[in-house]
Amino acid sequence: MVDLKAQYHRIKPELDEAIAHVIENAHFINGPDCRLLEQEFAAYCGVSHAVGVANGTDALILALRAYGIGSGDEVVTVANTFIATGEAILLNAARPAFVDVDEASFTMDPRRVEKAITPRTKLILPVHLYGHPADMEPVLDIAKRHGLPVLEDAAQAHGGAIGVRRVGSFGHSASFSFYPGKNLGAYGDAGMVVSNDVDFIARLRQIANHGGGSHKYDNVVVGTNSRLDTLQAAIQRVKLRPLDTCNGERLGRAAAYTNALLGIPGLVLPAERPDVTSAWHLYALRVKGNREGLEKHLASKGIATARHYPKPIHLQPALASVGGKEGDLPVSEMLSREILQVPLYPELPFETIARIASEIRAFLAG
Ligand SMILES: Cc1ncc(COP(=O)(O)O)c(C=O)c1O
Repeated sequence: MVDLKAQYHRIKPELDEAIAHVIENAHFINGPDCRLLEQEFAAYCGVSHAVGVANGTDALILALRAYGIGSGDEVVTVANTFIATGEAILLNAARPAFVDVDEASFTMDPRRVEKAITPRTKLILPVHLYGHPADMEPVLDIAKRHGLPVLEDAAQAHGGAIGVRRVGSFGHSASFSFYPGKNLGAYGDAGMVVSNDVDFIARLRQIANHGGGSHKYDNVVVGTNSRLDTLQAAIQRVKLRPLDTCNGERLGRAAAYTNALLGIPGLVLPAERPDVTSAWHLYALRVKGNREGLEKHLASKGIATARHYPKPIHLQPALASVGGKEGDLPVSEMLSREILQVPLYPELPFETIARIASEIRAFLAG
């Protein structure tokens, strides 16, 4: 689905130098690259502050903790997402209130948000899925009316934008994953939270570093060890520079798929909403007919595919305590039965796209 070696070889000298620099200086924990990446990534998102953490799951868990979310609280979110979005809520002893998604953008349907708000609601958590920014304006309007903060789960959407504003700058805060396959992927686990709220960022930084006070052994709240590794920060600083170029290359490849796949009966192609720039993390087809047959056909031709996600998280056994059942979220459930991703990454050759598209056409259009 991705070729991480191709990406490494594009910027190998800069990456090797950055890695060697960290090792030579033995700045493994909280080294200068950590602070610099926080500043650079916050500026990239169009916000003033950021805190690096160990991964995108911790970014969500710790952000919810920094809001003081706990037992009895509810968080309005979506089930058409990776399990981490739900885990983070449950690990804070709160309850996800799932709303369905908009079929065209795969993201939170703003028309459903207001109905999900109760006196227990403490936060709204939209997810920018596959790189497509959620429809933030109506979500922010509702949040404002109810006095609720919005945390964007931007794990899949580094560089995605609505108008000229990048994701991460809409909510009160946003969480990112730097998992290797992401648009801005580390060489291991890493994550970040961004926000304009200095106090929120300070609370989060404290929790992520053993609840530390002004002195190393001054522990003022119960925290944890979820620091961003200096090696990963150094790598991310190098990889941040060509991120827009790489996202542009993803966009070009998404357009090539769309051109080559237009007009195939039973196939719905992903599209950007007007005024939205997707980060094109994944190219998500919807197969109305024989998805399994298509998967098998492509596998027989050596073409990788994936289902992100085969089950919406309200139906995952891990979240059974929330009481979700089949039929609760018809659009999310429909998408899980139809969705199929084909390879998409900046270095993907256009000839490969043409070959994948012609195999899809051959199978579905006979
Ligand atoms: C939407 C979403 N949220 C959160 C995460 C968690 O990130 P990580 O794998 O870095 O913990 C992911 C990772 O795939 C994700 O896709």
